[in-house]
Amino acid sequence: MRKSEISIILQSEPSPLEMTVKGWVRSFRSNRFIALNDGSTIKNLQCVVDFENFEEELLRKVTVGAAIAVTGLLIESQGSGQAVEIQASKIEILGEANPEEVKLTILSPKRHSLETLREQAHLRIRTNTFGAIMRTRSKLAFAVHEYFRKNNFHYLHSPIITGSDAEGAGEMFRVTTFDPGNPPRNEDGDVDYKQDFFGKETNLTVSGQLEAETYAMGLGKVYTFGPTFRAENSNTSRHLAEFWMIEPEMAFFDLADNMDLAEDFIKYVVQYALDHCAEDLEFLENRLIQEDKTKPQAERSEMTLREKLHFIIDNNFKRVTYTEAIEILKQSKPNKKKKFKFLIDEWGADLQSEHERYLVEKHFKCPVILFDYPATIKAFYMRLNEDGKTVRAMDVLFPGIGEIVGGSQREERYDVLQEKMKAMDIPEEELYWYLDLRKFGTCVHSGFGLGFERLVQFVTGMGNIRDVIPYPRTPGNAEF
Ligand code: 4AD
Ligand code: MG
Repeated sequence: MRKSEISIILQSEPSPLEMTVKGWVRSFRSNRFIALNDGSTIKNLQCVVDFENFEEELLRKVTVGAAIAVTGLLIESQGSGQAVEIQASKIEILGEANPEEVKLTILSPKRHSLETLREQAHLRIRTNTFGAIMRTRSKLAFAVHEYFRKNNFHYLHSPIITGSDAEGAGEMFRVTTFDPGNPPRNEDGDVDYKQDFFGKETNLTVSGQLEAETYAMGLGKVYTFGPTFRAENSNTSRHLAEFWMIEPEMAFFDLADNMDLAEDFIKYVVQYALDHCAEDLEFLENRLIQEDKTKPQAERSEMTLREKLHFIIDNNFKRVTYTEAIEILKQSKPNKKKKFKFLIDEWGADLQSEHERYLVEKHFKCPVILFDYPATIKAFYMRLNEDGKTVRAMDVLFPGIGEIVGGSQREERYDVLQEKMKAMDIPEEELYWYLDLRKFGTCVHSGFGLGFERLVQFVTGMGNIRDVIPYPRTPGNAEF
């Protein structure tokens, strides 16, 4: 007797050997057709029951949400819609699901809003939508590793608990074993972190970049792929307090090499999704088409989901300096008509998501890489340009998403970096090791960070980042 996943069974030829399939009941029609799903594919396996051959008591327990095992022959399907089906000879109830209680949950077979699904995040993986999203997410993660392996990168596990603030933004979650009500204090009455677990103040990492730089200086090309944490109070559809970031870091790469890599990498993983997630993307595409029908004409998408993905692969990302972008934005209609929430009036202004999306969606109508930003609005570690006021930063901007990648060429000159740290009040004694890299065999190097959830959002077409991670952590919410 064979036991295998439904994804494999659906590709199989009818066989004279009995097989057993286990899964959850999606529906049971006319006391005859069980639609069984085991998560291996969006497709259900049809199991055909001759009710005369089974106890009524048993069949009554074949209800939506129940876990069952079906044994029988795989035969050519009599109905349309599937090539093969199981002719059930034996059914075993593995785990019942009381229909009265199921009715009160999102397992009940009717349309539920994404908000309702979020409230029952422990059950939402049993819906077609979340099955499709999470299978795609899993495949994309493999694509990331495959890309870097093929390109001779080493996978680096950077620490989760750190004593430094890589982005210098100060939005960190503290890690401590102190009793919050009664921490030890020093003579001045301040909390005495010398007595804390690590003997110093520590936090959850906001980025693995600085550690990745140290490893790039020995391994050449490395990447991290792990969780990162930001205690920023942004309740948007593109921010999470806990998200997964991919951070490649390369010795001997300048900014142009960095841009080439980012573009090539993104195109590779998007192509991978098209090649390996066809059924799930088809489902998600149709979901968007249905959703669009409820919107006014002007807000409907011009392209289907898969057309959008092809568009990314087929077009060069447009490379534009910050200075050029500011000129475009200054002259833009929404700026002149004061439609932007933040008006652009001078060079040096930080770009908001409304500006990024204008550039990508309205002006260039393709992915954009903005580079050479003002030093004042970027992190301390970015390489200062000869003009003395811009740095070799780059952001990749995507339609519907805005910033999907942030990166830069790193400041490799000891004195310039030291001065920059001083100016930005970054204590040298905390980052002596980072400065050391510039002392011993320093070299031009670059890297970037890609927010994995923003990538998954783009590929699946989901509007809210909370729907592309199993258990979203956002301000006021750490349920499950
Ligand atoms: O632009 P960010 O802050 O850059 C860094 O952290 C650098 N250390 C990266 C590097 O050069 N190695 O973050 C990088 C990306 C953003 O472009 C965005 O896609 C994502 O991480 N990101 C978030 N995603 C979800 N929720 C948040 N709160 C995010 N903050 C950043
Ligand atoms: Mg950024």
